[in-house]
Amino acid sequence: MSPIEVLVEEHRLITRASECVARMIGAAMPARRLKFLQAESVVDFIGSYADGWHHAKEEQELFPRVAARKPPWDVDHLADLGADHRRCRDCAREMRESFREGAHGDAEETQRFCRNAQEWIDLIRMHIYKEDRVVFPLVEQALTADDAHALEQAYAALAAEPRFAGVDAKYRTAVEDLEFVYNILPTGARG
Ligand SMILES: [Fe+2]
Ligand SMILES: [Fe+2]
Repeated sequence: MSPIEVLVEEHRLITRASECVARMIGAAMPARRLKFLQAESVVDFIGSYADGWHHAKEEQELFPRVAARKPPWDVDHLADLGADHRRCRDCAREMRESFREGAHGDAEETQRFCRNAQEWIDLIRMHIYKEDRVVFPLVEQALTADDAHALEQAYAALAAEPRFAGVDAKYRTAVEDLEFVYNILPTGARG
């Protein structure tokens, strides 16, 4: 897999997680209470995988290499994507702050959690669409073979850091567990 294909594959997992988040807030709103384990898992996934792993790989490794090539784009796609990341991060912070009180039955904090979760879902789906369909094809044209090789090495170096040990397997399992809870068929089982 090329470094861009790796990111697109991660988008698939994040999209699957976004469906679980949608189901979770659909159940939490009428009950006015979050399920502790599922909310905790979602907060961890968004903070540690979608942001801490995936967005960090894009911001620290991919975007600077693309910017260095000075691609002749009419739109500053990298600034736009960076702004999306910051808004996702704001939602994640609000969700993290509101989840414990929401899980303990505080209706206002539950609503705050659900509002930010819905915003995150809308943002991340649009963001992934932009990256997959618009920006990454342009990025693939802008990067050289040397850039691609350097990215592969940079991703491997990140994955070797103790804080990221087993990150892909851990969060794939977390999403599968959420899909089981919310009765969502795994991607491979869909017709
Ligand atoms: Fe991104
Ligand atoms: Fe991405």
